[in-house]
Amino acid sequence: MIPENKKKDKPMSKTHFKFMLKHFKQRDKKCPPYNKIEKTKIKEGDIVLDYGCGPGSYSIAAAEVVGNTGKVYAADIHPLAIEEVGKRAREKGLKNIETILTDCNTKLENSVIDIVLLLDIYHDLSDPESILIELYRVLKNNGWLCVDDHHFKDEEIIDKITSIGLFKFIERKDEVFNFSKV
Ligand SMILES: C[S@@+](CC[C@H](N)C(=O)[O-])C[C@H]1O[C@@H](n2cnc3c(N)ncnc32)[C@H](O)[C@@H]1O
Repeated sequence: MIPENKKKDKPMSKTHFKFMLKHFKQRDKKCPPYNKIEKTKIKEGDIVLDYGCGPGSYSIAAAEVVGNTGKVYAADIHPLAIEEVGKRAREKGLKNIETILTDCNTKLENSVIDIVLLLDIYHDLSDPESILIELYRVLKNNGWLCVDDHHFKDEEIIDKITSIGLFKFIERKDEVFNFSKV
């Protein structure tokens, strides 16, 4: 259960979001999002939650991998992120992406997700523990949580994700750290 006294995050300003959008377009040219998705276990037919999806670079790449038998939920606190993901999905003709506007509660059923992506967002969270509790709830028992956050040292990421006792570290593939449920 998400604690009732959860600290609230606020969406960044529209100007900041638009700056991030430009920056990520350049990032994605240099490092195609599909390369990161390859470092996760995502495969055809999987149900994926991209938590803190931003403009959706990884949601789109994941949706192409999971195909029509799978699905990607793209969740973000920012309405512009939700708008941008919808736009990109329409442009690509992808019908297997659903957006969720949230600061924590995804409103998904328990244990329905194969892979959660938590990419470049942990450092932004004012109450990461509540988010981890929510991600634990929606993950299937054999599901994986995939984390990348270049704001932290490697050992810090492992420590932060495992410290509340819900996840254990499985493996690292370059910048992507994969965890399973305890
Ligand atoms: C640095 S961006 C990373 C976006 C994407 N994961 C990527 O790597 O391209 C972080 C995103 O997390 C979102 N975010 C921040 N706090 C959030 C929260 N509590 N719940 C959902 N999304 C949040 C921000 O709106 C932003 O779009």
